[in-house]
Amino acid sequence: MQKNLLSLADLSTDELWHILNVAQELKDEWREGGNQPILMGKTLGMIFQKSSLRTRVSFEVGMLQLGGEALYLSPNEIQLGKRESVEDVARVLSRYVDCIMARVFGHQDVETLATHSRVPVINGLSDYSHPCQGLADLFTILEKKSVLRGLKLAWVGDGNNVLPSLLFGASKVGMDISAATPPGYEPPTQVVEMAFRFAEESGSGIEILNDPSAAVQGADIIYTDVWTSMGQEAEKEQRRRDLASYQINAELVAKASPEAIVMHCLPAHRGEEITDEVADGPNSVLFDQAENRLHAQKGLLAVLLANK
Ligand code: CP
Ligand code: NVA
Repeated sequence: MQKNLLSLADLSTDELWHILNVAQELKDEWREGGNQPILMGKTLGMIFQKSSLRTRVSFEVGMLQLGGEALYLSPNEIQLGKRESVEDVARVLSRYVDCIMARVFGHQDVETLATHSRVPVINGLSDYSHPCQGLADLFTILEKKSVLRGLKLAWVGDGNNVLPSLLFGASKVGMDISAATPPGYEPPTQVVEMAFRFAEESGSGIEILNDPSAAVQGADIIYTDVWTSMGQEAEKEQRRRDLASYQINAELVAKASPEAIVMHCLPAHRGEEITDEVADGPNSVLFDQAENRLHAQKGLLAVLLANK
């Protein structure tokens, strides 16, 4: 297994499945009463440039449950690249901790951290991708549907950072993905090209569309994310207008498979990209999905730090 997790594109299909399998073992062990302290004496440093509920708490609690510790370093604390260069933060922090998790604005910062760190670096969300979310999402889909290969995931909404992780993950494991975004909100071209390359090996079907109804046709999974991501608040009104017809509502869900599950990385802006009726409805797996951040990341930490 390579040292860092900056993007799911960097993992081989075997490495990806290995993390999912270890995560399942740890979830089973946790359900049976608690985990062995396989990360005793290990420390995770968590750098945040933006807000977080799930990422911060699931990493912190995950480390505790595996016998280790986590340090929360708030946006004001380190001031990545402002108080001190990103390179020096990596050099110094990696002398203290066994692993760094960083939530950054620009993906370049997490890459720079990885280049100059002595210890593994995990991307906890950048403008480019959200690999930990992608891992937890594949884990959740597997839990709900028992397979990944051959399923169809429909994405509806902004294609900025969560969609690339799903494109990489799906195209590695043989899952089909149809993404509907408004014109101008498509995932980056190089992401789509890479996903098509992975799909040539795995057999995934990939479609990048503009029509939500076409995307959800026969879908097993419907997935959305906020219209306005962290850092884009100034564009909020424009985004509301551009994405208005990209809402997951009962009418759209009815066009998918009757057994379709509805997913959202959260936080949700209810009434915008998803209605309350759907978020709280029978197809929603939103909160199981949020819980699985904990289990999937424990799998990742066990692989990176305990040679599982
Ligand atoms: N999905 C997710 O990463 O949530 P947070 O922003 O709360 O960490
Ligand atoms: N696209 C969202 C994801 C939050 C987990 C954002 O970047 O704010």
